[in-house]
Amino acid sequence: MSSMRIVVAANHPDPDAIAQAAALIRGGEVVGMPTETVYGLAGDARNPQAVQAIFVAKGRPTTDPLIVHIADYAQLVGIVGQLPSSFALLSEAFWPGPLTMLVPKHPTLDPAITAGRDSVAVRMPRHAVALALIRASDCPLVAPSANLFSHPSPTTADHVLNDLDGRIAAVLDAGSTTIGVESTIIDLTSTPPRILRQGGVPAEQIAAVLGDVVIFSAVVPDADAAPAPGMLLKHYSPRAPMTILRGTTPHIQAQVVAMAQQHPSLAWLCYDDDIGVAQQSQIVYASLGMRDNGALVATRLFAAIRQLDALNLAQIVTSEPHGAGIAAAVRDRLFRAAEGRILDV
Ligand code: TXA
Ligand code: MG
Repeated sequence: MSSMRIVVAANHPDPDAIAQAAALIRGGEVVGMPTETVYGLAGDARNPQAVQAIFVAKGRPTTDPLIVHIADYAQLVGIVGQLPSSFALLSEAFWPGPLTMLVPKHPTLDPAITAGRDSVAVRMPRHAVALALIRASDCPLVAPSANLFSHPSPTTADHVLNDLDGRIAAVLDAGSTTIGVESTIIDLTSTPPRILRQGGVPAEQIAAVLGDVVIFSAVVPDADAAPAPGMLLKHYSPRAPMTILRGTTPHIQAQVVAMAQQHPSLAWLCYDDDIGVAQQSQIVYASLGMRDNGALVATRLFAAIRQLDALNLAQIVTSEPHGAGIAAAVRDRLFRAAEGRILDV
């Protein structure tokens, strides 16, 4: 059976539409929901069957834990244990918003949610639909990104259905997400706190609040070695192998043209100042916008990877956005999508 698409306004969702989705959640079903970062696949955190159903729908290994999404601080009861003082500082500064915090878990929390780990990931999203769904369901919602395991994260309801149609009850369709890359994950159980995944809240902003913070950017080849399982090298991957070209813009452009002459089945995940070259050389492309506009590039990234991958070409080439802030999160996603393949030109 195909999954239901429930269309809602992103800012003022219709209460009937939310109630329909909440009824599914309360019945133990899993539902795609928009957040400000990417779409999540939501289920009742207090229902072990719903938690299991999420892993099954995504084809996700049960060793990879889930983020618990809340709409009110009161919902942390029974989820978290003793909170460190850094939690109050960061939640005050960034919640609701794209920051996930790893804190000690409550002893009674379903161990499947944390994959048997001692810490739980919690986040209060900044999206009217997600917050309304959590409130109407009257429970915290566990939600990983709503893609098949190792695919790029979904930024539209169409992406969710492309991966999960027939595997989930419904998706709330509120159009494109506004940030485009996932939340920043910070581990507050270590001293100093460590950023495990760069994302919607730039590391610089967290450092301004906490003072002491480290970016744990190691890429690990297998799950056993990772403090967070999502740090795996292969992630967000298109089917076509992707390569990152590093160098000046003219060098990158010349290299892509040369590669396309040798291997015509090539697509270019490029920037606006590459478009003229791509058109002249008849290279298939999708532009991420201006190379120094990290926020815009982030909103387009996953959709553009999916768009090019749908063409079934033999390879994708790309290069990196410039600058700090969210551009750093984009560079991380590109590195993993390319499984670490970098060519200096
Ligand atoms: O923006 C986001 O964070 C989105 C939206 C839907 O909220 N969610 C998301 O979830 O990206 P997911 O599951 O695709 O990525 C969460 C990452 C995974 O790599 C997971 O391994 C890690 O967080 N994680 C979750 N709980 C953890 C825990 N207790 N300890 C270590 N890592 C954890
Ligand atoms: Mg994910």
